Amino acid sequence: MISGKLQEAFNEQINKELFSEYLYLSMAAYLDSIGLAGFAGFFKVQVQEERFHAMKFYEYLNERGGRVLLKKIEQPQVDFKSPLEIFELSYKHEQFITQSINELMDIAIAEKDHAARSFLNWYVDEQVEEESTMDNIINQLKLIDGKGQGLLMLDRELGARTFTPPAKTE
Ligand code: FEO
Repeated sequence: MISGKLQEAFNEQINKELFSEYLYLSMAAYLDSIGLAGFAGFFKVQVQEERFHAMKFYEYLNERGGRVLLKKIEQPQVDFKSPLEIFELSYKHEQFITQSINELMDIAIAEKDHAARSFLNWYVDEQVEEESTMDNIINQLKLIDGKGQGLLMLDRELGARTFTPPAKTE
């Protein structure tokens, strides 16, 4: 059975993953409102990824005899200056999530909960990808100066992103 401290920390993380989902949906809504449907599509896929991250914690907590307790989700930012600002905020947000996962790992290590450590390893690896995805797009946006034909081409490219849940979830 999972400890009370880890249960609380996992519930906090579920809230953060659900907030991530909400934040990215807000970014999608803004991008749709300015006609960048491909960028919006990218964030709609990101929304599905975040729900997947949250549900993975949800199922694991149940499996370990813990209790999922949902918390209030804050309102996300709704207005943005540009696609570049959106990706810079996303990158910063993913760095915050990485920090949070690392703190969960610290608790699991302190509690000698090897099962939780093994479970959290998936998130440690996933966060490398999450940060890198956002950082790569920031670089591309800077290369095209965030506008013109390049922006439309990137919009088309990002619109092709699809959500593929990992076959093995743990
Ligand atoms: Fe759930 Fe984007 O990390």
